Amino acid sequence: MRWSALLLAALAEASPQFGGSGGSKSTMLRFGCSQLVIDRIDPLVNPGQAPSPHMHQVVGGNTFNVSMPTTDIGELASCTTCSYSEDLSNYWTANLYFKARNGSYKRVPQIPNRLLFSDQFTTKTTGGFVVYYVSPGKGGVTAFKPGFRMLVGDANQRTKIGSGRKSQSCFRCYSGPNFKGDDAAPCADARLDTEALPTGPCSGIRSNILYPTCWDGKNLDSPDHKSHVAYPVAGAQTFTGSSVGGACPSTHPVKIPQIMLEIVWDTTAFNNKADWPADGSQPFVLSTGDTTGYGQHGDYVFGWKGDSLQRAMDGGCLGASCTGLKTQSNAEAAKCSVPGRVREDFDGWLDKLPGEVMPM
Ligand SMILES: *[C@@H]1O[C@H](CO)[C@@H](O)[C@H](O)[C@H]1NC(C)=O
Ligand SMILES: *[C@@H]1O[C@H](CO)[C@@H](O)[C@H](O)[C@H]1NC(C)=O
Repeated sequence: MRWSALLLAALAEASPQFGGSGGSKSTMLRFGCSQLVIDRIDPLVNPGQAPSPHMHQVVGGNTFNVSMPTTDIGELASCTTCSYSEDLSNYWTANLYFKARNGSYKRVPQIPNRLLFSDQFTTKTTGGFVVYYVSPGKGGVTAFKPGFRMLVGDANQRTKIGSGRKSQSCFRCYSGPNFKGDDAAPCADARLDTEALPTGPCSGIRSNILYPTCWDGKNLDSPDHKSHVAYPVAGAQTFTGSSVGGACPSTHPVKIPQIMLEIVWDTTAFNNKADWPADGSQPFVLSTGDTTGYGQHGDYVFGWKGDSLQRAMDGGCLGASCTGLKTQSNAEAAKCSVPGRVREDFDGWLDKLPGEVMPM
C-alpha cells in the first residue's frame, strides 16, 4: 500500500494522541520477505505430511520444513529471506492459479511489492510478501514467545462469513499498471476491498491477511491453531483501526503485535476474456481449489531472535529500518533458501491443481 497514507492513518487511529505531548510512540514495521520456497507442505496444519493437501508460498527463515521444532526457531534458523535479518519466522499462504476455459491451470506469479524490493531485478527475487507488525506504542503489546504459532482463516471456507470478520482477509483489484489503485488502507473500504476474489480483470490482485491481536497468555499453540488467540471484543476491525488499539476479550487478555501479510499476484497475463469461463465468472482459484477467495488463510511460526521483536515494538520503529534492529540487503536475503520437499510440477500448464482429487 502507499506507505505515507497508511502510516498517517495508522498513527492517527492506533494512537490518537500521536503528535501530542510525548508519550508512547506507535510502531509499524513494514518490510519485505522474498520467496523462500513454493512447496506442498504445511508444518503447522499437516506436520510430517509430504505432500500436504495444497500448495503454499513461503517466506522467512530456513527452519521451514515438513515438520518444525516447537523450540526457539530464532536460535535454530541460520538465515532468512526477510530484510530484518533477526526475523527468522515463517509466514505462508495459499498460492493463486488461473483456470483457463479448457480446464488447464497455470500458477499466477507474485510480483515483488514495489519499493521494498528495489534491487529485485538483480537478485532474482521471484515473489515474496510484505510483512507488517504494528503496536500502539511502548508497553502496548507483548511480543510472541519462542514456540508460538497461529493460523488465520480457514482453507475450507467457501461462503461469506460476514462483516464482523471481513477484515481478516481481503482482496484488492488493481485498476491499472504500476500498482494503480493502491491508495487506501487494506480491508477498510468495502468498495475497494472484497472478501471474495475480484469478479473482473485486474492489473494485479493484492491479498491482505490480518492476524488476531489478542492472546490467552498461556498457550503457544492450540489444536486448531486459533483458539489461543482472538480478535478484539469489537471484532476484527480494519488494520489501521481498533484491531491495533482495541480491547481484548477477558479470555484472551494479552495484546500481541498486529501482523499483516500483503501479497500481490500479477494477473495481467491472464486477462484474455476468451480464456475466462463461458458463464462470465472469474477464472482464479486458490491452491486449495477455492474459487471464492473466502478460504484464503495465513500461517505463522514465530522466530524473531532473542528480544528483538519486543524491542522493535517498544521502539517506535517505522518501516523497513529501525535503530537497534539488524537488516540485510535483498541480495543477501535471496541467498537464503530451502529445498523443495515435494517433487512435482506446479508451474507448467497443469490438468489439475497439485493435490487435487479428481472426481471419479
Ligand atoms: C527436513 O525434513 C526432511 C523430511 O522429514 C528431513 O529428511 C530433513 O533432514 C529435514 N531437514 C532439516 C534441515 O531439518
Ligand atoms: C489451455 O488454454 C491455455 C490458454 O489458452 C493454453 O495455454 C493451454 O496450452 C491449453 N491447454 C490445453 C491442454 O489445451
